[in-house]
Amino acid sequence: MLTGEEIAGELGRTFGGFEAAGLPPGTDWVRGKVRDIIRLPGELIISTTDRISAFDRVLGELPFKGEILNTLSLHWFALTGDILPNHILESLSPRTVRVRRCRVLPVEVVVRGYLSGSAWRDYEAGREISGLRLPPGLKENQKLPQPLITPSTKEDQGHDRPLSVEEILRTGLVEGKVWAQVERAALALFERGTRELAPRNLLLADTKYEFGLYQGELILADEIHTPDSSRFWFADSYPGLFEASRPPQGIDKEYLRRWLMEAGFMGNGPVPFIPPEVWIETARRYLQAYELLTGGPFIPHGAGKEEEAAVLRAAL
Ligand SMILES: Nc1ncnc2c1ncn2[C@@H]1O[C@H](COP(=O)(O)OP(=O)(O)OP(=O)(O)O)[C@@H](O)[C@H]1O
Ligand SMILES: [Mg+2]
Repeated sequence: MLTGEEIAGELGRTFGGFEAAGLPPGTDWVRGKVRDIIRLPGELIISTTDRISAFDRVLGELPFKGEILNTLSLHWFALTGDILPNHILESLSPRTVRVRRCRVLPVEVVVRGYLSGSAWRDYEAGREISGLRLPPGLKENQKLPQPLITPSTKEDQGHDRPLSVEEILRTGLVEGKVWAQVERAALALFERGTRELAPRNLLLADTKYEFGLYQGELILADEIHTPDSSRFWFADSYPGLFEASRPPQGIDKEYLRRWLMEAGFMGNGPVPFIPPEVWIETARRYLQAYELLTGGPFIPHGAGKEEEAAVLRAAL
């Protein structure tokens, strides 16, 4: 894996987005928190930038992050294509893909194998979890008898709100027939992820999928089984830590989240100064995630802004 020094050398060479790429004037593009997206008839060009967000705020740019996320998603899209078609049409660069432009369902489809995060907080407070009532006596991070779908809203601003299936159907957010397909696909994808990761000593604790309708058909959009959308835990240390009521050892964004919380930041007010060593450690964890999830080394392509701009111009 790349050393801390090699990562440090990349801190000033990250890809922050399309301004840097100098797109032709008049290009129709939008900015998500992490991705910059060019809109074309029936298609999108999605570039995963190096921006990193936590608590729904963009905090800065992390070396290699865009390449890592995009390459990981491509890895999983290829491994799950038999379950459901996905949005990928063509890979344009290590961070950029051409995709089918679909109508993304306005629901984040969260699947959980373990009782953790916001689901645990709801359960502990005696609330339902996206309309589900779990039996009493469960512990934090406990494995659920079977994976649960706990949908939430897809908010433009601020935090997502839990949604019950009843509310999704009653308000017509998703049609009943489509929702049935979504549930089946989400559980099958989660099972596939779980099965692929078992020999790698990793548990898929929870994840989020985005589905869309393309020419009337359900497809998988956005990203899949990345450290931005999922929590992964080490399988071997999980039982002992769980018995000791200690948090599982994970390879997700928890390191940066915890650092921010200790600095007193949970999404409100100004973002604190994040020192280089925290960036380097966060980048190291994304690299580690890539290598553990795929079983192969991460080879940075290190495409510069110029190269990326040329790729985008050629694709338009
Ligand atoms: N195939 C697709 N067709 C249409 N939209 C898509 C497709 N794939 C992903 N998207 C959308 O593109 C955006 C991806 O950008 P990004 O991940 O940066 O957004 P985000 O920060 O998660 O959310 P937001 O859109 O609220 O900024 C998401 O809104 C996602 O729903
Ligand atoms: Mg996203």
